[in-house]
Formats: sequence, C-alpha cells, structure tokens
Amino acid sequence: MEHRHEIAPAEGKLGVLVVGLGAVGTTLIGGVHLIRKGIAKPIGSVTQMGTIRLGKRTDNRTPQIKDFVPLAKLDDLVFGGWDIFEDTAYEAAKHAAVLSNEHIDAVKTELQALRPMKAVFDQNYVRRLNGPNVKSGATKYDLAMQLVDDIKTFKEKNGCSRIVVLWAASTETFIRVGDIHRDLKTFEAAMKSNHADVAPSMLYCWAALQAGVPFINGAPNLSADVPCLYQLAKERKIPVCGKDFKTGQTLMKTILAPGLKARMLGLSGWFSTNILGNRDGEVLDDPGSFKTKEESKLSVLDTILRPDQFPDLYGDYTHLVRINYYPPRGDNKEGWDNIDIFGWLGYPMQIKVNFLCRDSILAAPVALDLVLFNDLAQRAGMGGIQEWLSFFFKSPMHLEGLYPEHDLFIQQIKMKNTLRYLMGETLITHLGVEYYDYFEDR
Ligand SMILES: NC(=O)c1ccc[n+]([C@@H]2O[C@H](COP(=O)([O-])OP(=O)(O)OC[C@H]3O[C@@H](n4cnc5c(N)ncnc54)[C@H](O)[C@@H]3O)[C@@H](O)[C@H]2O)c1
Repeated sequence: MEHRHEIAPAEGKLGVLVVGLGAVGTTLIGGVHLIRKGIAKPIGSVTQMGTIRLGKRTDNRTPQIKDFVPLAKLDDLVFGGWDIFEDTAYEAAKHAAVLSNEHIDAVKTELQALRPMKAVFDQNYVRRLNGPNVKSGATKYDLAMQLVDDIKTFKEKNGCSRIVVLWAASTETFIRVGDIHRDLKTFEAAMKSNHADVAPSMLYCWAALQAGVPFINGAPNLSADVPCLYQLAKERKIPVCGKDFKTGQTLMKTILAPGLKARMLGLSGWFSTNILGNRDGEVLDDPGSFKTKEESKLSVLDTILRPDQFPDLYGDYTHLVRINYYPPRGDNKEGWDNIDIFGWLGYPMQIKVNFLCRDSILAAPVALDLVLFNDLAQRAGMGGIQEWLSFFFKSPMHLEGLYPEHDLFIQQIKMKNTLRYLMGETLITHLGVEYYDYFEDR
C-alpha cells in the first residue's frame, strides 16, 4: 500500500447548482430523481456503474468505484440552479423534450419544486437567446456578488454541507485569453469597469471560487480556463475543470483516432457533419458561438495524432467540422463522419460513421460523474485544474506549457490511477511481466 490521502467524509447533503436548466441540466436532474426512485438505471455513469481493478490480476479485487472512493450518495444530492427563463425544471424538461413525458411525469413533484434563480446574462455573449429571469446590477462585479449570495443562501436554506457549481448553460461567443485574465487584481478591476472580455460564465466561476465551491464548465467557452481563475482555485484549494462535455461525435473521434494511431495507419482527411435541432443547435447557429465550439472540436485530432512526430502519417490531413441547425431532430442529433485513411504502402481506405446519438443522454452521466468527482477532489484538498478528469471533456483544461491529453484510453488510465493514488493503492502500469517467468534465469 502507498500513502493514503486524507479525504474528508461525504457527510451531509451536497448541493448541485446548475447554471442553465436546459437539455443537459434537466436530463441530469430528472435522471437522478428517476434513478433514486428505482425507475431507471444510471447507464453511462462511471461513478455509478464503473469498477476499478486493484492490485495484481490474481488478487481478484475489482470493487465498484463508488464503493472504493468516498463519493456523495445520489440520495444526498439537492439540486438548484439559474436560468434566464422562469420555467420550473419540470416545464424546462418538457421543453427540452429529451426524456419521455412518462419519465418527466414520474418525477414531476421534484422537478416542479425547482424554480431557477435569476441569471447573470448578457445577450452580447449569446446572441440567439433572450429571457426575462435576469439579474440587474451596475457592474459585472455587482452581479457576481449577487451570485455569491445565491450560493450561500441556497446552502443555508437547504442545509447542505457542500456545494458544486456546474455550467450547463449555452455556449458563449469566442473570447481569447487576454491581459485582463492574467491576474486576479486586473480581472476584478475589469469586472468593475464592465470589460467586454469578462463573460457571464467567468462571473459564475469567480462567484463559485469566492464561495469556496468547485466549478465545472460543461461548455466550450473559456469560463474557468483563464489564468487568474485557475490560479485562484489552486491557492484556495478549490477544484475547477472544463471544457465542454465529451459526447457525440468528439467522443467517437477520441475512441477511433487513438486506435488508428496505435496501428500506425495514416490519415488524409476527417470530415464531420451534424444535424441537431435543440436550443444548443440554435445557439450554435450563430457564428460567434460556433467559433467557440469549432475550436473545441478541432483541437482533438492534432493532440492525439501528433503530426509533428509522425509527418508521414498525419502531416497533411484535412479536418472539417460542421454543425447544422435542423429543428425537426430536436436533441436527437445525427452525425456523419467520413474518414479517409491509408495503410501499407499508402493504399487508401475509408471509414464511415453514422452516429444517431442523443446528446443529452450522453452528457447527463458525464455531468453527474463530474459533480461527484469534483466534490471528492475538494474533500481531498486537490485545488486548481483537475486534469485527471480530462476523460469527460472535449477540450480538457491544462496548465500552460503542458499539452492536453485527448486520447480517451490514456484519460481513463489517468483517472483510475488518480483514484488509486488518492486511496493509497499501487498504480497499475499494465506491464504484467510479474505473471511470467521470462527473467527467472538472470
Ligand atoms: N447536449 C450535449 O450533449 C452537450 C454536449 C457537450 C456540451 N454541451 C454544452 O452544454 C451546454 C448546454 O447544452 P444544452 O443542450 O443543455 O443547451 P440548452 O440550450 O438546452 O440549455 C442551455 C440553458 O442555459 C440557459 N442559459 C443561457 N445563458 C445562461 C446564463 N448566462 N445563465 C443561466 N442560464 C443561462 C438557457 O436559457 C438554456 O435554458 C451548451 O453550452 C452546450 O454546448 C452540451
């Protein structure tokens, strides 16, 4: 056994404050209530269904992750949130139309009880949306202070011992990291002078950190991914992570690309196109929001394939990503990938993937796992960027100077080894020579 880290127990209630009660938010919340009632199972959730091997293969120790690390129980979660619409989570779930009416009605009381708090919203950052349930304040700083109050009041009113904030709100327009994001003093001055590079999602993150609670960013906009915020998180020992839940086409990409690379097969092109008709699709129809999403989706292949290391295989491929807003499909997205690869002596081949996925059905368990793992990280004293949770993100946050890890399988090893490390178990290298007698004679 290695050193076991001190982890405070998961006692009391965990408040989960969701920014944006849209398709993902309501599918997460409705889903957790359905699971608690025994009506459905937490399929797709690593924390609820996954196992972890400990020790040697011959030890036969493979507990469930939720029995191995001290996670909050689903029964201890209390949900709240913010949205620019006044709809309760019940009405919002009906509008999102991800879950069936039968499922939504089975948890009607619980969903109706959730009325969103007034949001911090600015149409300059999400051009296709506007709603009435919005806070007012002279400066961005004032607005953020109201969010800090919301978090504290929610915690007290609901008797929570801990809180996690999850951004599941719309994708904001593209912003580059700039000088105002470098240090906290400059950033807070920018909040007070209403600087355009301070987006609402950054205010939610700042507020969470002021209130001492972890912040998860499920969208591709910067939010926590600016030096002043993740450094503050590190100093205060508060976890932050993002960006953009890894679902749908990018999930497939990070499953397939490592396989092609593992077999040293070349790539000449990867064309991805989607149709999707939910509100997320509508927001992404705006070029500013699409640019943010596109950057997130495009970054994946280069870091997995490493054209710099393998110019003969990946030095010259075309990667295109298209998202088309097509209302009839709602949340039931359809994605097509055409992958042009080449093999032995350069002979070309093609792979076609047609994924008829349900985006929020893929995102909800990811959101749940992130909530539970960030709460664990907080109790274990792990502040700052949670790179070990890259498994769940399209563009994982990472320190400047480190490249992000996109390969789903490396991400999985990283995540499981972090859990072993926290619990003082030996890390697993998958070497396996100890089972054979190759070196006996030496
Ligand atoms: N659906 C998926 O599977 C998936 C996958 C990866 C990432 N994402 C990202 O997650 C986010 C949510 O996706 P969705 O499908 O639930 O979208 P959605 O449009 O259904 O829901 C977003 C909600 O956020 C609200 N909102 C917008 N700005 C807000 C603000 N400043 N404060 C509070 N509420 C605000 C909107 O009113 C809406 O109800 C998007 O950014 C999307 O890109 C979604």
